[in-house]
Amino acid sequence: MRRSATKDSLSFYIDKKNLVPNRADLIIAAIQLSVSGFSQSTMGYSKMQDTTISLPNPSPDEAIVWREGHFFLLDQRYLPERADYLELHSGQAVADAIRQMVVRGAPAIGITAAFGVVLAARDAYRGSGADWKQAMLPDLEVLRLSRPTAVNLFWALDRMRKLIARLPDQGDPIEALVNEASSIHQEDIQANRRMGELGAALIEETTGVITHCNAGALATGGYGTALGVIRAAYEKNLIERVYADETRPWMQGARLTAWELLHDKIPVSLLVDGASASLMSQGGIGWVIVGSDRIAANGDVANKIGTYGLAVAAKHHGVRVMVAAPTSTIDMDVKSGADIPIEVRESEELLSCGGQRMAAAGAEAWNPVFDVTPAALVDAIVTEKRVVLSPNEKKMQKLMVS
Ligand code: MRU
Repeated sequence: MRRSATKDSLSFYIDKKNLVPNRADLIIAAIQLSVSGFSQSTMGYSKMQDTTISLPNPSPDEAIVWREGHFFLLDQRYLPERADYLELHSGQAVADAIRQMVVRGAPAIGITAAFGVVLAARDAYRGSGADWKQAMLPDLEVLRLSRPTAVNLFWALDRMRKLIARLPDQGDPIEALVNEASSIHQEDIQANRRMGELGAALIEETTGVITHCNAGALATGGYGTALGVIRAAYEKNLIERVYADETRPWMQGARLTAWELLHDKIPVSLLVDGASASLMSQGGIGWVIVGSDRIAANGDVANKIGTYGLAVAAKHHGVRVMVAAPTSTIDMDVKSGADIPIEVRESEELLSCGGQRMAAAGAEAWNPVFDVTPAALVDAIVTEKRVVLSPNEKKMQKLMVS
């Protein structure tokens, strides 16, 4: 992290090389903010301070905001310690934000990328007029390369690309592109609400549930996939307590899932990532409920590393496994989980904790951030269309053509 407090020191947000921020960094960042005035970033990020645009009070359900031609993200790297909106000014800045986990979670990444396309097109149209489609291609490529596993990214880029192909070269494309990105956002919220109802209907009696990572409002356009089911089920008194794995190394469970559940006054207990099997062995857990980053044509599920272990333990203990994910997360082009590209992030994320080196000097690390749970370990895939019980290739095919 850069520690000089120059006018453009805002770029400390993107010098962090994917490290989870620690308290000292936050304090230094706050000092930099007050010294620099923090208005514009040379790299396309800026923290909202002197804007006249009124932003919502930061809440899990309003983490992605397009307002009056400006695009904002609630910076998830610092939650719950600090809830700040960042303004993103370009397609490139949006790609950086995705790569660096300002925004994360499959549907949220897709929605954000769609708005990244809007910003890229706006720059291209301002700079190149009728040649805007050609001029924005490099930005589309940078967005495509931002993260590899969540298929919602490619799904959303594809949808925007199809619209671009239909638009004329002449004339300002921005309104049409904003409308499409906003539709992607709104449709995701509606899908989550529907999955909430369908998933809650699978829970037969009041029980404890385990969730992993964060598949809540923050990871989506709002309401959440797994946490959407949990919200809907809690309202129906079907959930006593949520056990949330802390989810090393980014701590999405401890920081984000706990924050969201507490916001909704849903009782939550955190577990270290290895504690779930032990908890299941004691009884009282009816379901493991998770989201997904990509589901293959045969029903194999890629999700945050640790989901597979959770599903194996669930099978052993007779606990059922529910995966809540919109159909935009299903990739019929990959035959099985073995074909899903799994992101491997920097070792440094594992060797340190909260910015503090923890591992013995010389130790190396393997840091895949997703794993694949075979369809045979999944009891139900809940989509906005309907529920698929005991998924397999035939059932997934039928779902997708329905
Ligand atoms: O690395 P992340 O935080 O982007 O991983 C997110 C997850 O694995 C979520 O569980 C998944 O995207 C489902 S989100 C609705």
